[in-house]
Amino acid sequence: MNKNIAVIRGDGIGPEIVEQALKVLNRIAELYGHSFTYTDVDMGGCAIDKWGDPLPAEMLKKCVESDSVLLGAVGGDKWNDVPGPMRPEKGLLRLRAGMGVYSNNRPAKIWPQLADASPLKKSIVDQGIDFIIVRELIGGIYFGEHKTEVVDGKATAIDILTYSEEEIERIGRIGFETARKRSKKLCSVEKSNVLDSSRLWKKVMHHLAAEYPDVELSDMLVDNCAMQIVKNPAQFDVVVTENMFGDILSDEASMITGSIGMIPSSSLGATTCGLYEPIHGSAPDIAGKDLANPIGTILSAAMMLRYSFDMAKEADAIENAVSAYLDAGYRTADIMSEGMTCVGCAACGDLILQNLKKE
Ligand code: IPM
Ligand code: MG
Repeated sequence: MNKNIAVIRGDGIGPEIVEQALKVLNRIAELYGHSFTYTDVDMGGCAIDKWGDPLPAEMLKKCVESDSVLLGAVGGDKWNDVPGPMRPEKGLLRLRAGMGVYSNNRPAKIWPQLADASPLKKSIVDQGIDFIIVRELIGGIYFGEHKTEVVDGKATAIDILTYSEEEIERIGRIGFETARKRSKKLCSVEKSNVLDSSRLWKKVMHHLAAEYPDVELSDMLVDNCAMQIVKNPAQFDVVVTENMFGDILSDEASMITGSIGMIPSSSLGATTCGLYEPIHGSAPDIAGKDLANPIGTILSAAMMLRYSFDMAKEADAIENAVSAYLDAGYRTADIMSEGMTCVGCAACGDLILQNLKKE
């Protein structure tokens, strides 16, 4: 198959982690007889420096016209004082909205080799951690009006949180469909004891439940969910939630699996053109030092093969290569533990390549 992949290296550790994922994709192409071509796209701080805009229109066009997008990370202290609408993160939000990728899938699964890297007690980890957060990605407070103005002589900041029934329903369906393919348990997370948007969220979820009688729906308040994720993560299988809650809970969920550096994500909308990115940020403090963990990005590339290109065997091959790398005792600094061999970002990519075999 021929596929055109838009590649956004971005800022901070972005370029070095993306480089490792491209090595892996190139080897997959060789092994399975595919042809992947790459279109470079500038987004984030580097695009602000080069074009004065975190996502120029022609860059978004390249992404929309590609078969899928692979992204490293954007942002950094250098752009902290840039006004809100021009921040690097705004480029990412405009990209997600411009691609229409409303459904963000973030797995929280512990690799057995990394059980020791989890900050949770062994007795909790041993019960298993394997769930998915389905996060609504292009609505809610991230996309409402943001403004800071002087009201009665005091600086006052306003961020508007809006959800329509349609927006909730389409992500709700993804939640139910995802649960249907797993253990048929869906937990809808909101803050319906305080927020109107959450009360509508809950109502729509229960309305939808009638269409999915085989799936058991439960509700949980977001503050309780944050607590349950560390207390008893084994209870979760599929969690569906709105944009900001999903952002926060997915960082928490990733950490209990050992390191945020390991977690990939997929974002999809109405077409197969998806956006694939690790869930961590640009980590400017370790950028360019060959210290970053590229596995979140490598596994994001595997998700691209599985969900957008229908290449399940190729995706399995990448996941197996990552597992073999961990079995061999190699660790980047973020997941380093006693008795293991500490490697840098590029060596991690090379070692995963060495373990990549046609399934
Ligand atoms: C994420 C990130 C982004 C988000 C930032 C960089 C805008 O934290 O993908 O989780 O909040 O969505
Ligand atoms: Mg986040």
